[in-house]
Amino acid sequence: MCGIVGYIGKDKCIPIIINGLEALEYRGYDSAGLAYVDKGKIILKKEVGRIENLKNNLDMNVESYLGIGHTRWATHGKPCQENSHPHRVGNITLVHNGIIENYDELKKELIDYDLKSETDTEVVAAYIDKLYKETKDMLKVLQLLKKHLIGSYALGIIVDGINKLYAIRKDSPLIIGVSEAGNFIASDVPAILRYTNMYYLLLNDEYAVLDEDDVVIYDRDGSISTKNIEIFEGSYEAAMKNGFDHFMLKEIYEQPKVINDTINEYIKDKKSFFAKMKGLEKYKAIDIVGCGSAYHVGLVGKSLITEYGKVLVNVDIASEYRYTNHIYSKKHLIILISQSGETADTLAVLRKAKKENIDTLAIVNVVGSSIAREADKVLYIKAGPEIAVATTKAYTCQLMLLSLIAAYLGVKNGNLDDSIFEEYHNIVRLLDDSLKDTKDIQKVAKMIWQNKDVFYLGRKVDYALAMEASLKLKEVSYLHSEAYAAGELKHGTISLIEKNTPVISIVTDDSIRSKTLSNIKEVCARGALSIIITNQDISDNEMYTELIRLPKVSKLVESVLVIVKCQLLAYYVAKLNGCDIDKPRNLAKSVTVE
Ligand code: G6P
Repeated sequence: MCGIVGYIGKDKCIPIIINGLEALEYRGYDSAGLAYVDKGKIILKKEVGRIENLKNNLDMNVESYLGIGHTRWATHGKPCQENSHPHRVGNITLVHNGIIENYDELKKELIDYDLKSETDTEVVAAYIDKLYKETKDMLKVLQLLKKHLIGSYALGIIVDGINKLYAIRKDSPLIIGVSEAGNFIASDVPAILRYTNMYYLLLNDEYAVLDEDDVVIYDRDGSISTKNIEIFEGSYEAAMKNGFDHFMLKEIYEQPKVINDTINEYIKDKKSFFAKMKGLEKYKAIDIVGCGSAYHVGLVGKSLITEYGKVLVNVDIASEYRYTNHIYSKKHLIILISQSGETADTLAVLRKAKKENIDTLAIVNVVGSSIAREADKVLYIKAGPEIAVATTKAYTCQLMLLSLIAAYLGVKNGNLDDSIFEEYHNIVRLLDDSLKDTKDIQKVAKMIWQNKDVFYLGRKVDYALAMEASLKLKEVSYLHSEAYAAGELKHGTISLIEKNTPVISIVTDDSIRSKTLSNIKEVCARGALSIIITNQDISDNEMYTELIRLPKVSKLVESVLVIVKCQLLAYYVAKLNGCDIDKPRNLAKSVTVE
């Protein structure tokens, strides 16, 4: 999701806009840009990657009092300087959030313009310039836009020679901030909170003209609107949490959206999906390496890639892998998984692999991070910035991407057909539904939060999920928790089960379900408090105190439904225990030391 910030006023605009863009980083982006007026001239600065890159290329002290900034999350055209915003055509410089559906149509009327980027936004800039040349009146242009533009847009516009900031929106958010020192436009409240908590909410087809001391808002029919100013009462942090008590919960709830963004990035257009994945079929063996949850998601990936891709997969913890000798096949690939792209051990494995001439592929969230830059190939997830230390949305997006790799290999080797891609869209809807009602999980949280030890059981992929579920619980709630391969129970663990010890079993794998159910009976016989998370029919209600039911879907996607329930359980147990959920003691989000 792109982010927009604009300012006109008595203070220097560049630091204000940069601060605003940083506050919008949570929306996710792959490039950033800024346009400001310096002695009557428009200056454009754009950089791919982090806002930091843009800052390094800016003088914060420039005497400029009007500017617009943007963080771009690529839709039309790859992330590159040319495609980044602001776009400047003729007398118009603008930033845009949204998608213009009829940009190809509009382009046909713009034969006099030499458009340079692949974006729909540059077409809009040219179109506005054309309308402005025809009408010589920006207010008329803004009035006309709804007739010509189909799609969604929030626009911040500067016109050469006019010391005003124009804004308009339809189906993409935009607010107008007001203060003594100047006025703002922004995609969201956190972007302006450092300067003001007073703002107008722009509604569809409304537009606004801002100058240093005034804001005039127009209704869709062109009359001046008399809307009320909104006051944001909460803190900056509360604004960032968007109504949720913790970032972890906010990020759990963001999952349908970011999974949708991630799968759309790859399978919206099948041709480009096959192009992006091209070459993966040549590998005879794959090593997947990561730390913490990234290692756990690799285990789920192994199960899918082995089953559908029919490739030999080995998964290892980066801190182990880097100090172990390996035997590589001729066509060997190392997949590095890292949310931050900076984890020291994972980065060390990448560098070692490069020295040994082994091909590397990185699955990363943070654009432009070290692992992303140094790997031979990068596949980005679209989780957006993750603030809670315990990962949630990055894990599920990584899972989806590994699943897409398995699906690609499966289609290539004839094990799957194209119809499998439907499952990915289906899962977004199911996940959305499952997040609407969390009573079952909250009930389980109340059953277990005072226990000292919690065990998770599963076999095969369910064991990999149990490991992540257990890690999540111990990370945020400080309960001691362990995951066991259900078949290992008898080799020691069962001695730890006594009356009311919580045992949470994950049962999704049909091929092994009866075996896991036998193990559940064994712990029940020893008095365990049995909780089962399953998409299977389990008729024997002696086997559980609580059953968390999930819908049965393709194996390629069903793990997401399981893990989101487990994330919620960890969250609610931690909440009952009064833990510092977003910043658990002793843990760091990005571990850049060994
Ligand atoms: C830390 C985080 C974990 C994460 C791990 C790997 O321990 O707390 O949530 O799974 O690092 O981080 P990465 O950025 O490489 O995915």
